[in-house]
Amino acid sequence: MRDVNQFTVTEAVKSSFDTEDGSRFQFLLETFIEHLHDYVREVNLTHDEWMRMLNFLYDCGQISTPERHEYILLSDVLGLSALVDMINTRGGATEGSNLGPFYLDDAPVKELGADLAEGREGVSVLVEGVIRDTLGNPLPGATIDTWQADSSGTYPIQEQEQGQDKYDLRAKITADEQGRYYYTTVLPKPYTVPYDGPVGELLRAGNRHAWRAAHLHYIVRHPGMRSITTEVFFENAEYLDNDAVFGVRKSLIAKLEPVKKASAIDLPLERRPDAKVHFDFTLAPEG
Ligand SMILES: [Fe+2]
Repeated sequence: MRDVNQFTVTEAVKSSFDTEDGSRFQFLLETFIEHLHDYVREVNLTHDEWMRMLNFLYDCGQISTPERHEYILLSDVLGLSALVDMINTRGGATEGSNLGPFYLDDAPVKELGADLAEGREGVSVLVEGVIRDTLGNPLPGATIDTWQADSSGTYPIQEQEQGQDKYDLRAKITADEQGRYYYTTVLPKPYTVPYDGPVGELLRAGNRHAWRAAHLHYIVRHPGMRSITTEVFFENAEYLDNDAVFGVRKSLIAKLEPVKKASAIDLPLERRPDAKVHFDFTLAPEG
């Protein structure tokens, strides 16, 4: 390997790894090395630029905590998360979108029709729809796992020091025999992704803002079907066309309709919300 040069080094590095022939790991690693080396050759990377990149990654690690994963944020603002979501969406199924940093897998189980708002300030909304398979058949017993920001754009988990319960504004709800799900909550407001760290510096360097379009998060599941992780947005809302993490898809934008009369709600609710949002989910078979 003494005669290694800028053209042969790529092959030398690839073959230095003794990985299982034909394995996925080998494919991922070797392709990554190729693209990384091609990038360096293409841009003629200087020592200074190389060190600034490494220091940027170091800073991302330094600011990360169990509650704050700066690399996920980096992936989000670079559109990497969106791209992974896009290529993993199955034909006919609801498009995927960002998981984001605030998911908790042990959200409280709540009954169909529950009120997640529990007296919070804001526009009260009924969120309802049907969960179906790609042939249009309803999926009774499908579950939604939902979480969201409040009417000031904050997730309760971010304000635990101010006495908020991290499980507020989140729930797991099971659909009825017709595959219908419904619950009431407050309309979430837009919020900024954290921009006080290295990723924020990157955004500022590129004259980008940190705002996300307001959204509701979902993971929708049913046995035998491929789960989807996605977000639902609202028509005519701010930042739909320049969401900081590229999470918006046309098919994920729902109408927000005012509810003028209690009779407009064909669901067993004891309260009348200010508005309603209808969004149907479609799950593709597993495999
Ligand atoms: Fe979010």
